[in-house]
Amino acid sequence: MADDNRTPVTVIGLGAMGRALAGALLDNGHPTTVWNRSIDKAKRLAVRGATVANTVEEAIAASPVVVVCVLDYAVVREILGPLSGSLAGRTLVNLTNGTPKQARETAEWATGYGADYLDGGIMAVPVMIGRPEALILYSGSPGAFGLHERTLGALGTATYLNADAGHASLYDLALLAAMYGMFGGFYQAAAMVGSEKVPAAEFAPMVVSWLNAMTVALPTVAEAMDTGAGADDDSNLQMQAVSFANILSASREQGISTELLEPMQALLNRAIAAQRGGADTPSLIGMLRTDPVSAG
Ligand SMILES: NC(=O)c1ccc[n+]([C@@H]2O[C@H](COP(=O)([O-])OP(=O)(O)OC[C@H]3O[C@@H](n4cnc5c(N)ncnc54)[C@H](OP(=O)(O)O)[C@@H]3O)[C@@H](O)[C@H]2O)c1
Repeated sequence: MADDNRTPVTVIGLGAMGRALAGALLDNGHPTTVWNRSIDKAKRLAVRGATVANTVEEAIAASPVVVVCVLDYAVVREILGPLSGSLAGRTLVNLTNGTPKQARETAEWATGYGADYLDGGIMAVPVMIGRPEALILYSGSPGAFGLHERTLGALGTATYLNADAGHASLYDLALLAAMYGMFGGFYQAAAMVGSEKVPAAEFAPMVVSWLNAMTVALPTVAEAMDTGAGADDDSNLQMQAVSFANILSASREQGISTELLEPMQALLNRAIAAQRGGADTPSLIGMLRTDPVSAG
């Protein structure tokens, strides 16, 4: 039977994110038990109705659903490893950031001790938790997701990917890679205009509008990447490589570091050299797939 808002949930880890997760569960009426290494972080949640467990063992025993959200997977294993046996029959929902390999290993470990395992990627900051705009990706046990979808919905929009526990991490990190690319581009742009005393805040709306316009191209590029069909390119790669080199030159002239841009220039150059003028934008992904540095 699917759960409801009376399903008890335990939250292990009360950093900024864990506190937000526990708060959202309390707001939705779930009996919520919390545990954190530094107990003082539990105080405000206790005032809101959370039960503060004195030990991790007590925290696990309190609920059929155990959410863990700590710094990294090493900490997950440090906290839960000695109590592996207590996980039998429970659903462990690991919302800690980590790699697909770590997620799969943790799934194997938890299921080996009789737990159902869901791995999650939180595409939100703590203030968004509990609202629909907080996208939380899950992968792992389909049965556990089906059973606890409603409970997980208290944390944000719960989106199940598939049974491979590593996929939530993979999507999470891929989305973060896209985000850091965008932020890195903005830092460079702001530093460039800032070298002429243009305030970043004044420039930012123009960047937002430009990036919004350019994201429209992504589905077309993506389709060409998938099919290998090549782009119907009216912005050919050689032309782009020349103007990209101008971004580096201008940055240097303005006294701005080029460290964020150089890898992209190297990739453009490599694609052009490899394909003797036939390279297009979608072919860049092929260069990444064969990049010995990335592969290592
Ligand atoms: N904050 C965000 O914007 C955000 C967004 C998406 C995903 N996340 C992910 O959510 C996870 C938690 O992030 P956060 O923002 O809550 O981080 P945080 O505020 O730095 O909290 C870290 C948590 O890990 C615990 N911890 C660290 N080392 C430990 C150890 N050796 N033993 C026991 N507990 C230990 C801390 O306990 P103490 O309180 O005792 O130090 C605390 O509960 C991370 O994986 C992060 O990537 C965060």
